[in-house]
Amino acid sequence: MKVVVLGAGIVGLTSALRIVEDCGTAELDLTVMADKFSPNTTSDVAAGIWCPPRRKMTQREMQWLKWSHEYLTVLLKTPYAHEIGVFLQSGWIAWMHTDFQDPDWKDLVQGYRHPTKWELTHLFPEYKDGFFCTTFMLESRLFLPWVTNRLRNKAVKFVERKVQSLDELSLDYDVIINCTGVGAHDLVGDTKVFPARGQVIRVKAPWVKHWMLLEGKHPYVPGIPYVVGGSTATLIGGIRQERRWDLRNDPRDTKTIWNGVTTAFPALKDAKVIEERTGLRPMREEIRLERQEKTDPVSGRTVQVIHNYGHGANGITWSHGCAKEVALMVKQLLQEKTIKSRL
Ligand SMILES: Cc1cc2nc3c(=O)[nH]c(=O)nc-3n(C[C@H](O)[C@H](O)[C@H](O)COP(=O)(O)OP(=O)(O)OC[C@H]3O[C@@H](n4cnc5c(N)ncnc54)[C@H](O)[C@@H]3O)c2cc1C
Ligand SMILES: *[C@@H]1O[C@H](CO)[C@@H](O)[C@H](O)[C@H]1NC(C)=O
Ligand SMILES: *[C@@H]1O[C@H](CO)[C@@H](O)[C@H](O)[C@H]1NC(C)=O
Repeated sequence: MKVVVLGAGIVGLTSALRIVEDCGTAELDLTVMADKFSPNTTSDVAAGIWCPPRRKMTQREMQWLKWSHEYLTVLLKTPYAHEIGVFLQSGWIAWMHTDFQDPDWKDLVQGYRHPTKWELTHLFPEYKDGFFCTTFMLESRLFLPWVTNRLRNKAVKFVERKVQSLDELSLDYDVIINCTGVGAHDLVGDTKVFPARGQVIRVKAPWVKHWMLLEGKHPYVPGIPYVVGGSTATLIGGIRQERRWDLRNDPRDTKTIWNGVTTAFPALKDAKVIEERTGLRPMREEIRLERQEKTDPVSGRTVQVIHNYGHGANGITWSHGCAKEVALMVKQLLQEKTIKSRL
């Protein structure tokens, strides 16, 4: 069975990895195709905190989160965890409003609690609530090259190519896994997918050992700044612009980030800049993860498409869990194929 994974961000590469590891390569011929590879994907821009969105979760979403968490737990205990960007970090989300509600997944992260009085008074003055916990970090800049190598060793092919439409692939492949992130909007127009543009600055500030995300309109801290410790650099940010598509770093946003971050965390004032990056979070009301059968209009050949996109501001968090479901779907297709060939 010829399978192509379209997209080489965290969602595409974890899907490919789970397919290879869960379905084996005996009956599979797997290709990863994308127009951008690490370090040039959105996933490379992300901080990489394992933190799901704070909204009501469906049972299916909870399952993805559990699977994702399980897999990272395995990776954390390998001797090479630090080389692939997997480690633990504690931190806070400070919430400006009084309506803060505990998320459904609070028991998946470790040591979840509300901020103490000291924390609210001295670290996050004026903020009303929030939480502190210990959770995973997964740095795509280290993780994606590792997955790529692992896939190459399993004879997975990599092709650099921009795909304009599904029809281009339907003659050559039996299964297409659609992991195109915000690219799904253009590809034939899922208009439910739209970007939330983010810009981040990587700085040298090795004393930052926690993540701190500030949310809501503060009386004097501008924007929604955040700081995240990383394995080689500290990430600062706070830009979230819906439906803005350009990928160039904008000096106005650079200024907003510095103003917000240094007002909230003065110790970062003189941190040396290493790099600045912009990425588009693939927003969608809900993640699209489903199977669809398509028939090529010219040849009449049927292709199976598995969509896996729209992971929004938390794609690093969701990726392994969604990938596991993709692999289950591929396994099912392999079984169906075997049954058909016996008939
Ligand atoms: C500033 C910022 C901070 C973030 N922080 C976090 C965080 O701390 N934790 C977290 O969980 N998430 C975070 N995110 C969100 C996370 O980055 C995304 O949800 C995730 O990267 C989406 O992954 P993806 O693989 O779907 O998309 P991408 O990484 O964008 O990959 C898409 C792939 O599809 C390919 N593609 C698209 N269209 C086509 C086409 N037509 N033809 C060929 N190839 C195509 C691209 O080339 C690329 O390889 C952050 C995002 C931003 C911007
Ligand atoms: C990433 O983008 C840069 C600049 O466009 C390019 O030179 C480089 O080859 C790209 N890297 C990969 C792995 O595609
Ligand atoms: C990927 O999904 C998008 C959104 O539904 C669709 O427009 C596009 O045709 C799909 N691409 C492939 C190759 O299936």
